Amino acid sequence: MYILAPSLLAADFNILGKQIKETEEAGAEYLHIDVMDGIFVPSISFGMPLIKSIRETSSQFFDVHLMIINPERYIKEFMECGADGITFHLEAVEEPGKVIEQIHAAGGRAAVSVKPGTSIEMVYPYLSEIEMVLVMSVEPGFGGQPFMPEAYGRIRQLRDYIDEKGYPVKIEVDGGVGKKNVREVIGAGADICVAGSAVFKKRSISDNISQFMKAFGEKEDK
Ligand code: DX5
Ligand code: ZN
Repeated sequence: MYILAPSLLAADFNILGKQIKETEEAGAEYLHIDVMDGIFVPSISFGMPLIKSIRETSSQFFDVHLMIINPERYIKEFMECGADGITFHLEAVEEPGKVIEQIHAAGGRAAVSVKPGTSIEMVYPYLSEIEMVLVMSVEPGFGGQPFMPEAYGRIRQLRDYIDEKGYPVKIEVDGGVGKKNVREVIGAGADICVAGSAVFKKRSISDNISQFMKAFGEKEDK
């Protein structure tokens, strides 16, 4: 079962609630929520008040991607305002094991990520403790960037390692994923695709999402 996680960053904030509903009705089971602090990444996005507010409109899985330094300061708060799962960056913490424990203690699903320039093998020591790895296919910080083809090799390498060891860990891919490359992305081993621009821009949200659902369905039927 493949899952689509529309990235809120690309939404129209004037009509945010309406757009979130559209993604849910079109079959997106997750909502990807990018939190940026202007330090770990150059940009600043949104935080707890927004998550708390949209929690009232949506029953999707809130997949919170923390691009902030020292995320251990806020794990409990993000969980309390409605996160279902939290992803943090290994580059942003000193003791990843402790952050994973914090997420689990608060009832969340824990995931780790690394930037494209960091070896994917950095996540290996945590695979027995986490539920998901987020593979970045762009430099984190902004939506609308082109997919970095080097990510395919990283996804495949991680998929093979996870399967070989038998870990029940999902792979999510984030950045530049759209209808043109979604088949290659899931073909390389992704379970969950994040998509911002490809969901919220150009055509209608439901048309955009149906393209992803079609690609997922074809792969599932194989
Ligand atoms: C980038 C974010 C992504 C981004 C994806 O730092 O983590 O989630 O919003 O947007 P697109 O799909 O437009 O690349
Ligand atoms: Zn993200």
